[in-house]
Amino acid sequence: NTVYVLNGPNLNLLGLREPEIYGTTTLDDIAGMLEDRGRELGLEIDMRQTNHEGMLVDWLHEAQAEGARAVLLNAAAYTHTSIALLDAIKAIRTPVIEVHLSDPSKREEFRHRSYVGMAAAKCVQGHGAQSYIIALEAVASGEI
Ligand code: DQA
Repeated sequence: NTVYVLNGPNLNLLGLREPEIYGTTTLDDIAGMLEDRGRELGLEIDMRQTNHEGMLVDWLHEAQAEGARAVLLNAAAYTHTSIALLDAIKAIRTPVIEVHLSDPSKREEFRHRSYVGMAAAKCVQGHGAQSYIIALEAVASGEI
């Protein structure tokens, strides 16, 4: 009953990076929050971060191969550029929930298109770190 939580480029700097947009919560803090909530919901969390697009593709394939329950994916800037990620999500049967701290639809025009969103089962955005928790709860409730 494992949920993969995959994080893309620059999210290793969360807490330091543009705190006025992304807040001061670090990725480690979010991992802790997810583990706590996951324990309550009976879901195990496998939290990862990479700055490399192809690594996210490999991890999506792995999620399916390992029989993960679902993937929470914050692909960060690759959200808006990566046809490879769109194809990877389409290639696996494991459900993927798109997650963002900010609400990209209220930011620059170039953030309005989401390739991830074209294939994701659901999108949770604009709730800061809580976006991840809301997405995890959607898995636990059976919505996803
Ligand atoms: C983000 C939104 C993206 O547009 C941006 O490139 C990020 C973070 C978010 O979580 O709000 O790096 O995915």
